[in-house]
Amino acid sequence: MTTAPTIERVTSGIGTSPVRPDGVLKLRGRFAYASDMHIDGMLWGATLRSPFAHAKIIRLDIGPALAMAGVHAVLTQEDVPGKLNFGQAVQDQPVLADGETQFWGEPIAIVAADDLKTAQRAVAAIDIEYEELEPLVDSELADTLDSVTCRPRIRRGDPDASGEIVVEGYYEVGQQDQAPLGNEAGVAIPDGEGGVDLHATTQWVHEDHAQIYPCLGLAPEQVRCHPVGMGGAFGAREDMSMHIHLCMLALATGRPVKMMFDRAEGFVGHVHRHPAKMWFRHEANRDGKLVKVEAKIILDGGPYRATSDVVTWNAAYFSVGPYVCDNVFVDAVAARTNNPPAGAMRGFGCVQSAFAFETQMDRLAAELQLDPLQLRRLNALEAGQPNSTTGQIIVGSLPTTRVLDELASMPLPPEATSDDPRHFPGGTGLTTTGADIKRGVGYGVTIKNLAFSEGFDDYADVRVVLNDTGVEVHTAAIEVGQGLVTVLQQIARSVLGIEQVNVVSNDTSRIGSAGSTSASRQTQMTGGGAYHAATALREEILERLGGDDLTNEGVWSEGSLVATLPEVVAAGPWEHEIRFRHPETFPPDENGQGDMHAGFAVAAHRAVVDVDQELGLVRVVQIDTVQDVGRVLNPDAAVGQIEGGTMQGVGLAVLEELVLDRGRIVNSNFTDYLLPTFLDAPHIEVRFVEEPDHWGPFGAKGIGEPPTISATPAVVGAIRDATGRALTRVPVLPQDIALG
Ligand code: MOS
Repeated sequence: MTTAPTIERVTSGIGTSPVRPDGVLKLRGRFAYASDMHIDGMLWGATLRSPFAHAKIIRLDIGPALAMAGVHAVLTQEDVPGKLNFGQAVQDQPVLADGETQFWGEPIAIVAADDLKTAQRAVAAIDIEYEELEPLVDSELADTLDSVTCRPRIRRGDPDASGEIVVEGYYEVGQQDQAPLGNEAGVAIPDGEGGVDLHATTQWVHEDHAQIYPCLGLAPEQVRCHPVGMGGAFGAREDMSMHIHLCMLALATGRPVKMMFDRAEGFVGHVHRHPAKMWFRHEANRDGKLVKVEAKIILDGGPYRATSDVVTWNAAYFSVGPYVCDNVFVDAVAARTNNPPAGAMRGFGCVQSAFAFETQMDRLAAELQLDPLQLRRLNALEAGQPNSTTGQIIVGSLPTTRVLDELASMPLPPEATSDDPRHFPGGTGLTTTGADIKRGVGYGVTIKNLAFSEGFDDYADVRVVLNDTGVEVHTAAIEVGQGLVTVLQQIARSVLGIEQVNVVSNDTSRIGSAGSTSASRQTQMTGGGAYHAATALREEILERLGGDDLTNEGVWSEGSLVATLPEVVAAGPWEHEIRFRHPETFPPDENGQGDMHAGFAVAAHRAVVDVDQELGLVRVVQIDTVQDVGRVLNPDAAVGQIEGGTMQGVGLAVLEELVLDRGRIVNSNFTDYLLPTFLDAPHIEVRFVEEPDHWGPFGAKGIGEPPTISATPAVVGAIRDATGRALTRVPVLPQDIALG
């Protein structure tokens, strides 16, 4: 018997930043993304898409395509074997257009052929004639015509309340694309018994599965959805793209079929962020306290419902920010138009509102001659207080004041003195001499809900196993590159005391749902599941083997090793599966009031920009940000999420917008859709405020979305500070700030 054990604690548990299992592969270009999948004998799929935002199909003849050598199937709406429509909350989107097209790029027919070129030629050979119809592309007009999918409404407090100072404004947010670097791709493989296995880009295999099998007219167990390697998602993959099409083609041909969107088709093939038009009215007293906030928010959802309900409700729920206000009246609407379908994107709904309410806060501060951070601090909402919009008492931690104070304490960058043109707006384009550069500073603060709200049955199934390979964490949760696999390993290590942990990514037939990789929820939900399943397994092992501690070496009792790890494994099988749920939430009442949210987080940004107003050029110099994270489980990953999220906010502030012409996207490529690159990236300083939350593992909160929300108003506020321009629309374009 070993005496005086050195009880080795794990070295790569929570609080550390271990090497990611996918990290080296990705850096070396060896990671298998969905688009890398290959199966011998597979066919290639391609899609005929509507060239009009709104059109009637008056003739459709697939004969010429079907007659081509190497073409194995050409399918239209008539070939959909089961339910004709799909969609998350409401199934209102046709699998293939049914006689009329409702958006530019809507799928009409699908083809499987020996190779991609043949499939594309077959698509072009389909004989089709359209009658173009007038597209509805104005979301305000759609609202007037009552062409809408939902109308969230918030009524709280006294409508007659009034403040001494009134600030009113109209704001617009352009349509941002998630632009994941890994494109949409997938392979469907028929199982030879009438069923199919689908491997395709996604954020939630079980939700895909629930929508796919009815459309295929199959039993649930005949369809299996598998996670695949992905480079980002950001909400673009909460709604399906090619999924049902791939399965249809595989079942029709009896062969594996692959589809892969190129960049142009990718822009068309997934949902985008809802563009917004927003009217806000803030009333405050001279002491700076908010008295009343009124807002009207129109989001453009495109033709189908997708996730518009939750996005639009979120825009309403978070239309005041992390501020106390007793009187709040909000009308929001998801317009139904012939613009590109909108869905979720990082920070969904809150992003749009935050640009408006934070601009309003800046304008209020200016009216009151208060420092912008001071005004926000005066109104800061904290745990235990009622949320301004919904009346819900803020549960868990919400250290708003600490976040603001921490941000205020961060040092500003030195004044620009460098004559290195790389530091000037316009960079090495040598567009400016540096003589007329003006510097500005701006702030953005936000609150965001964590995980699913409104009474949704939000859960994550997790199975933890101990066997001779070590610990396995089984889950169907999707790693999109955010680091979920790593953090699950860390959680299991810290709970079990065992270093060797593998995450086993399961398809829909092997484990229950983990919910979506969205709403900043997986660290808390699947991470919470891993925490509780591992804890239960540890207790079971200790009880059965009569120990009081478990480590890499085995089970200990009062400092003595009673079973080595191989002995523990041999005494198995060891397996514990749980369904983890967060504290119950409830749907809103008719006034949008109630306990809708399971938790909240706050983030704050300060941006420093240099502007060459003569040329309309902006350089985002530095962004300092503080985020309420509950507890940091992986410092490097947390910084990475916050930096990445911040850059998506910077992109919306100054670069990113899908430009439409009668519903048609005219910039569906990375030459014309401007994504920020490394050269556009400011220096980013990240600080955390750690006040453990009430249900995440070890007190952790989700961190993915908040940084995207508050970065945009901070950057625009800084440009406003430098230029004196109103800047009520994002992205801010050169012509919005240029002189003359
Ligand atoms: Mo997201 S927009 O919650 O993927």
